[in-house]
Amino acid sequence: MIPAIRGTHDILPGEIERWQHAEQVIRDVCARYGYREIRTPVIEREELFAKGTGETTDIVQKEMYAFKDKGGERVTLRPEATPSMVRAYVEHALEQALPTVKLFGFGPMFRYERPQKGRYRQFHQLDVEVFGVSDATLDAEVIEMAAALVHGLGIEEAELVVNSVGCRECRPGFSRALLEALGERRADLCADCRRRSETNPLRIFDCKVPACQPIVDALPHSTDYLCEACAAHFAATTAQLTALELDYRVSHRLVRGLDYYARTTFEVLGSALGAQNALLGGGRYDGLVRQLGGPDRAGIGFAAGMERLVLAMPEGAGAPVPDAFVVALGETARPAAHVLARDLRHAGVTTLVDYDARSLRAQMKRADRSGARRVLILGDDELARGEVTVKDMESGEQAAVARAEVVQRMSG
Ligand code: HAM
Repeated sequence: MIPAIRGTHDILPGEIERWQHAEQVIRDVCARYGYREIRTPVIEREELFAKGTGETTDIVQKEMYAFKDKGGERVTLRPEATPSMVRAYVEHALEQALPTVKLFGFGPMFRYERPQKGRYRQFHQLDVEVFGVSDATLDAEVIEMAAALVHGLGIEEAELVVNSVGCRECRPGFSRALLEALGERRADLCADCRRRSETNPLRIFDCKVPACQPIVDALPHSTDYLCEACAAHFAATTAQLTALELDYRVSHRLVRGLDYYARTTFEVLGSALGAQNALLGGGRYDGLVRQLGGPDRAGIGFAAGMERLVLAMPEGAGAPVPDAFVVALGETARPAAHVLARDLRHAGVTTLVDYDARSLRAQMKRADRSGARRVLILGDDELARGEVTVKDMESGEQAAVARAEVVQRMSG
């Protein structure tokens, strides 16, 4: 037997229904907020992520599945979708095709990380991006939609965390303040943090090494170093989050592990996930479109880990619930019961039916196990009267309904 590659996984029947349910809920929510679906290739030029995700990130430095293809070109499996979305936006001049460019996509991403619960080498993301809008009302709308998605999936215990990392104008001052505050204590940090303090001091906030935590917790807050414009943007964003009645916490540690963020950053954390507790994360990245060769357009978005969402969803979510179970009794009524099942299905009613002419009791038991909301009993007596007995499985109420009306009643 040749096993699957470490950090990859199959999604099997039984589990796939939860994925399909999650995707359906997400598609519905995205459509309601005006997003359009896009699918981009899983393989791209390595340069796109070196420039986009950032040379100093762990993703680019350590985790990319990058190689030279047979034509000698440096390519990589995508570790994230944002640079690809930007590329597609620029390459197809989407701002001319769409009134507001709001895009979403699903697909596998690849990062050579150490696998553990909720962390894989091939994982799947929902990716959401909006281009060309700088106003803070959009920041709040994007964050609110992220929260609505989590809620729509039935995930109750989730915490929304937000921050602002400033912009090209104010970040250098904040980086200097970080280094000053570290001072002598820099020597006490882990090797990774000491390297980060030279390449990109903000990355120190990502550190998970226990010995570094007291030092990191005592560092200055980015929101105290914002320029006037960034401070106003953050104030407007949080005010709008409050207007939208969202509970959120501001965390100065939320700097995110990718280089392109400017101003707003956010994450939704789940509680069922252990160490890998980020259900989704994102932020604003004004400047990235231009950096990748496009026009000077704003950008904001987030990505959710599908494995993590599916893991955090309640038990039974997405399990198919039939609307109707047709119980067929008696030799004459059986063919008519299958005609009834056909009519219900054509009318959009999810319908199960029994095939082996068993007793009423046995069929009722199976109907109960199926979780069907209503049982429709069609026996020889009902057939003769031109009726169907309809039983509501929740209330237990039972009533005779004319055969001519039952399909309309069930689909109404
Ligand atoms: P990210 O924080 O790297 O951001 O990933 C987003 C989400 O993907 C995480 O919160 C997590 O749920 C999931 N995820 C990341 N790595 C793994 C993994 N190894 N295994 C399982 N799930 C994982 C981004 O990727 C940005 N592109 C988000 C964004 C979009 N920012 C703006 N637009």
